[in-house]
Amino acid sequence: MLAKIQSVTVWGINGYPVSVEVDISKGLPGISIVGLPDQAVKESRDRIKPAIKNSGFDFPRSKITVNLAPADLKKEGSCFDLPVALGILAARQIIPIDIADKYHFIGELALDGSLRSVHGVLPMAMLVKETGGKIVVPSENAAEASVVGIDVYPVENLKECVDFLSGKKQIQPYKLNWNEILASQNKYEIDFKEVKGQPFARRAIEVAVAGGHNILMIGPPGAGKSMIAKRVPTIFPSLTIEEAIEITRIHSVAGILDGGIVSTRPFRQPHHTVSDIALIGGGTIPKPGEISLAHNGVLFLDELPEFHRDVLESLRQPLEEGKVVVSRARGRLEFPSRFFLIAAMNPCPCGYYGDRYHACHCTVPQIIKYRKKISGPLLDRIDIHIEVSGLGSRQLISDSVSEDSKSIRERIENCRNIQLKRFFGKGIYFNAHMSTKQIKEFCEIDDECKKFLQDALEKMHLSARGYDKVIKVARTIADLEFSEKIGLNHIAEALQYRSLDRDMG
Ligand SMILES: Nc1ncnc2c1ncn2[C@@H]1O[C@H](COP(=O)(O)OP(=O)(O)OP(=O)(O)O)[C@@H](O)[C@H]1O
Ligand SMILES: [Mg+2]
Repeated sequence: MLAKIQSVTVWGINGYPVSVEVDISKGLPGISIVGLPDQAVKESRDRIKPAIKNSGFDFPRSKITVNLAPADLKKEGSCFDLPVALGILAARQIIPIDIADKYHFIGELALDGSLRSVHGVLPMAMLVKETGGKIVVPSENAAEASVVGIDVYPVENLKECVDFLSGKKQIQPYKLNWNEILASQNKYEIDFKEVKGQPFARRAIEVAVAGGHNILMIGPPGAGKSMIAKRVPTIFPSLTIEEAIEITRIHSVAGILDGGIVSTRPFRQPHHTVSDIALIGGGTIPKPGEISLAHNGVLFLDELPEFHRDVLESLRQPLEEGKVVVSRARGRLEFPSRFFLIAAMNPCPCGYYGDRYHACHCTVPQIIKYRKKISGPLLDRIDIHIEVSGLGSRQLISDSVSEDSKSIRERIENCRNIQLKRFFGKGIYFNAHMSTKQIKEFCEIDDECKKFLQDALEKMHLSARGYDKVIKVARTIADLEFSEKIGLNHIAEALQYRSLDRDMG
């Protein structure tokens, strides 16, 4: 007797249909599964048999052959436990085959027959939506699956699923509480008002986020670099539902989803020993890397000079294109990776060069060597570098409260709206992404400004690239003031954000 059950798998961040075919015939008792890697097959077999028995069903003493089609699609994980078990029961007519046909099934079985959540459910549900189908999932995955607006039937265990399919038990499709979701969106536990003092750094961060300019903070230990970086997601424009779904899809595949839908912008801080695969993504069964987990949010690279050079250079393409492309035999695979980059470093190996409160013990060659460790091509994609010096103890213990994230966010939203209008239909959203041609078009400066800028650049030995960056940042500063024209004060401020050019010549 042959039974067919519909299931889904994930490749990259897309769902693909999988047909689970189960045949029970005379022969030596046992299960053989084809279409899965060896280890997964073994584990799945070892779970399915006890799960069926412990759910109160006989396990057939016959030859069971399971085929997961298409065979050339690499499948992994445990999400086929439920469809395989149902296939075995359908082949024995314990559940009606035609009813099983109406649903897609995913879920991992525990030995007692209860269902455990699996990864990648959102992209799977997206595929089911395309086919106009319905899906049966472990209860824990129900919220995530129903985000796409399909009928989702949550089940706790195999027995409940069988009762549902054979009409003994009614299960209502899961109702997602959108009000609850919307209420929990954009709620952060931290806020910029906790960052005392630091007006210069706060302003630079505001300009950076407003214009999409990546930023590097240079400062001694304890200056508050990590503290500031962590609060950057809180001043971004509110996360839209579309953006939240994009993030959820990636986090779901990576298995780091906590709840139904991501509610705040991601903040990812990979350690400097991170490998290029962990940062960029990839692997035999390609998984998103840190930069994709930071999609629509912030990637914070602390201790920038400590990162492996090759690893940093691999950021070039994603920084430019907003996506990572992985090539595999089955074709190209894309992971979105539109993130805002914040990097931090100490000014020298000991950390205290230029510090008011501690002496620095480094020699000049040591400092130069340390700074040269940052990859040039990456530095090229960072428009703003600033120095952050530590606060004195009096300022740190003062009760002063700084401006909160909400107020900063409002200015940033206004500034971004100006850019959205400016670049409408041009394929870019931010001043930071302007090409040289677009800089000419949108960043006209008068002769007085030109002369001022030229003099400053000569003094600072800035290259043409540096020149473009100063103008782009000046454009953002003018936009923050709703000024059409870029003035001297805007250029002067933008020049302050080229700290590394100044120091190293
Ligand atoms: N401006 C500030 N306002 C309030 N607290 C601050 C400020 N700056 C630093 N602190 C306090 O000092 C602690 C250390 O700051 P943080 O970890 O951000 O420093 P850092 O610059 O990242 O240092 P490191 O180079 O060691 O990583 C913070 O947790 C915070 O309690
Ligand atoms: Mg830190």
